[in-house]
Amino acid sequence: MSRPADILFKPFSHGALKLKNRIVMAPMTRSFSPGHAPGENVVAYYRRRAENDVGLILSEGVSPNTTTATGTPDVPNIVTPEAKAGWKRVAAAVKAAGGRMGLQIWHEGPYRNPQKTEHPDIPSWSASGVKVPGKPLWQPMSEAEIETAISEFVAAAAATRDAGFDCVEFHGAHSYIIDSFFWDQTNTRSDTWGGDWTGRTRFACEIVRRTRKLLGPDFPILIRLSQWKQQDFAAKAAATPQELEKWLTPLVEAGVDIFHLSQRRFWEPEFPGSDLNFAGWARKITGKPAISVGSVGLSGEFTKLYSGEVSKPASLDALIERMERGEFDLIAVGRELLNDPEWALKVKEGRMSDLKDFSKEALTTLY
Ligand SMILES: Cc1cc2nc3c(=O)[nH]c(=O)nc-3n(C[C@H](O)[C@H](O)[C@H](O)COP(=O)(O)O)c2cc1C
Repeated sequence: MSRPADILFKPFSHGALKLKNRIVMAPMTRSFSPGHAPGENVVAYYRRRAENDVGLILSEGVSPNTTTATGTPDVPNIVTPEAKAGWKRVAAAVKAAGGRMGLQIWHEGPYRNPQKTEHPDIPSWSASGVKVPGKPLWQPMSEAEIETAISEFVAAAAATRDAGFDCVEFHGAHSYIIDSFFWDQTNTRSDTWGGDWTGRTRFACEIVRRTRKLLGPDFPILIRLSQWKQQDFAAKAAATPQELEKWLTPLVEAGVDIFHLSQRRFWEPEFPGSDLNFAGWARKITGKPAISVGSVGLSGEFTKLYSGEVSKPASLDALIERMERGEFDLIAVGRELLNDPEWALKVKEGRMSDLKDFSKEALTTLY
């Protein structure tokens, strides 16, 4: 028995960010930008989601520099004139279709393999030079490198605003550079960038604080966080709600507007003794709007995050129930929106029997 999905289509407003509904397209790397600049195929891909009722589109991860930030081929940046011009076309197309969009700024940090990049001689950056805890691959970042990385994130956020987008999201999840500072297993520094939660949040807070200062009070700043790590899906960077408070509070003080809490399955409780998921806890602790995510509309029991097993459309009832309770404000949808640009419109119109089975081809095609 399906519940009406009205809650998903209630407008949302927070400061300058005004959305027609609560459906967010999750950031998803697509590697369709040769020369690291998005072309007309990428413009059309995002425009299709805006035309079909996605409330907020978050872009694929976008690099803030051309050296240390990425090792993934054909990932766009927001640094070169060609890339900036391409993103301007994306922003204009989404706006013309009545959509809202932000870029996700993504620095791969320790997940960049220098040997596979255009700059094999440049070591990868992370808090303590480790990808696997306890096995250093590179030197910890120097003070100068930390300053450079912060400035590059801030410049990327400014370029996002200048390209015409509605918000920016910093990718602070999934073990990449920002997350390498958060997690005590990959941040073993004994200086002011490590140690307790105050030290481990400092890198992210500096990025957020300086972005806020440069862009003023109105430009919405989002940050994506995850308890799980690519090295360990079961990891809990914050073991208790009290620790989570120590993680999130400095970020609120630095100027984060909206938290985006990455889970592999949105229905999984974050801590024992409560049904609240990660986004639910973030909202409860900070009072800030929270975006949840994880296997919305997918029936498969996914063992690997991006593996894309074939999956039948699944009921949205459990999601709707949580949103009606006000557990979190917005829901990000990843693979279903890769698979079908009309997913949100079909849900809005109650055309559940038109929803498509998930197929692996969606991972390698720009529908
Ligand atoms: C192909 C693909 C690429 C992804 N790339 C990113 C990314 O660039 N940044 C990010 O934060 N998450 C990325 N993710 C994770 C998604 O944003 C999302 O959290 C995840 O797919 C779970 O949502 P879903 O179950 O609705 O797909 C990616 C996921 C997929 C499937």
